[in-house]
Amino acid sequence: MTENESVSAQAASARDEYGLVQMANLVASCRSFRRFDEGRRVPEGFLLELVDMARLCANGANRQLLRFRVVSDPAACDAVFAELAWAGYFKDWAGPAVGERPTGYVVIAAERGAAGKPAAPIVEVDCGIAAQTMMLAARSAAPSYAGCMLKAFTLRLIDVLGLDAERYELKLVCAFGLPAEEVRLEPLSASPDGSIKYWRDDAGVHHVPKRSLEDVLI
Ligand SMILES: Cc1cc2nc3c(=O)[nH]c(=O)nc-3n(C[C@H](O)[C@H](O)[C@H](O)COP(=O)(O)O)c2cc1C
Repeated sequence: MTENESVSAQAASARDEYGLVQMANLVASCRSFRRFDEGRRVPEGFLLELVDMARLCANGANRQLLRFRVVSDPAACDAVFAELAWAGYFKDWAGPAVGERPTGYVVIAAERGAAGKPAAPIVEVDCGIAAQTMMLAARSAAPSYAGCMLKAFTLRLIDVLGLDAERYELKLVCAFGLPAEEVRLEPLSASPDGSIKYWRDDAGVHHVPKRSLEDVLI
């Protein structure tokens, strides 16, 4: 066994020994999904429950500067969708088509310190923690929902949501729905061009290359 193999082997045995298999599987299944079954909508109560969990998350100095807008009404979802950009690496894909679009959103904003002033930089960290918590919760549900975090939204979105731009800074859009695509984790070595770019195969399966444990340990 090489030194590199041994860290993976150690992690795998700890996964078994400490009851981490279920969590590891949840994390592995919690990919970014971009195509959904639009006919089976995410209930608004489900999205509210996600926010109820997100508000409990760790955050800088417990200042709790994040604010959340839940969007589930179909027309309102269409309005949010129009302001989003999907899968930057897929130059010839305009994003999910009608029938496969997200059916609910949680938009994360940060309260500004003072009117028109930038929000505290640490809210970026808070936002990631809150967003991933909601993604994991959605994926763990029965039925298992899924989502995608989007930072690529237009400056118009804050107006579309009717929020006061002097008071709030939009940070992240979390899109949710019942997944209607297959997403697979891959070792970086499987990447067709050797890069970190995700790819889609002829069968429409979305592949996400990840660096190995060995490669991320420093
Ligand atoms: C902060 C952040 C911003 C993102 N913004 C976008 C986005 O604007 N559009 C998009 O399609 N995906 C977006 N993603 C999804 C990433 O592309 C995705 O996480 C990455 O390709 C790895 O795939 P995985 O989530 O399945 O591991 C974002 C993810 C994060 C964490």
